[in-house]
Amino acid sequence: MLVDGCYDGRVALITGGGSGMGRAMAQEFARLGASVVVAGRRPEPLEETVALIEAAGGRAAAQPTDVRDPDQVDAMVAAAVERFGRVDCLVNNAAGNFVVKGEDLSPNGWRAVVSIVLDGGFLCTRAAGRRMIAQGSGGAVLSVIASYAWTGGPGTVHSASAKAGLLAMTKTLAVEWAPHGIRLNTICPGPTDTEGAGQALWPDAADRARVERSVPAGRLATVEEIAWWSTALCSDFGSYVTGMNFTIDGGHWLEQDSYMPSLKPRD
Ligand code: HXC
Repeated sequence: MLVDGCYDGRVALITGGGSGMGRAMAQEFARLGASVVVAGRRPEPLEETVALIEAAGGRAAAQPTDVRDPDQVDAMVAAAVERFGRVDCLVNNAAGNFVVKGEDLSPNGWRAVVSIVLDGGFLCTRAAGRRMIAQGSGGAVLSVIASYAWTGGPGTVHSASAKAGLLAMTKTLAVEWAPHGIRLNTICPGPTDTEGAGQALWPDAADRARVERSVPAGRLATVEEIAWWSTALCSDFGSYVTGMNFTIDGGHWLEQDSYMPSLKPRD
């Protein structure tokens, strides 16, 4: 989508960069010239992402990080600076999710998801933002949310609440940090074909088929379709866009499960 080399000299930090959407984003940033630091809890998947990027001629480093831990998050930013000299982009992609009824969700289960998504998103944004402010040359922060941030998400009250928090954080800091040239936006992927989302949200073939039918476009998103927009929004093409959400979901959230006669072919 973008011009090759448009990220030359820039450094992007991607949380949850060891798998799925985060790995695809890391590869796309690197393909466009960025040096990439991938962060996540387990080192092995991060090293695999780095190997894929390096095999394609890109620059990348792995930094094992639990985004819930402020000290580890500060160390993640410090590692990016030590290895590549600066931080220009942060993608808050790390997430956790499982389907559970609200009345059955334990305090610890609530904390597990909210602390990864919302606490982690804030801590990473704060640490990267401080660095960008000190550098004095702007930057971009992109957080991955879901449409249930504004519609509500029956079965995922922890994730829906945390993603809504990320949306509010993005709008708030977009205003606070605009004078520093730092832009904050969110992307909202619809159901996307990743192993993690599949295990958590559509564990068998019947579930997957049901989810596919719920998307007007009739299919899940590919990770590349999400990654393209992550690089577009963080690039100079997005230089006047801040505090906004960009939805990439094949019309999923607009499908209102209306009482009007169905226009879909009968099952
Ligand atoms: C009920 C569960 C549960 C489940 C965990 N818990 N899984 N409760 N149903 N399926 C509860 C545990 O019982 C425990 O509470 C608490 O949550 C913490 O569990 P841990 O396993 O100790 O937590 P942790 O190791 O930190 O794991 C975090 C996690 C895990 C969120 C639970 O699933 C994870 O790390 N996932 C990362 C990958 C992931 O989920 N990716 C999918 C993202 S897809 P108790 O009370 O027993 O101690 C996505 C897409 C959304 O977000 C958009 C869709 C359109």
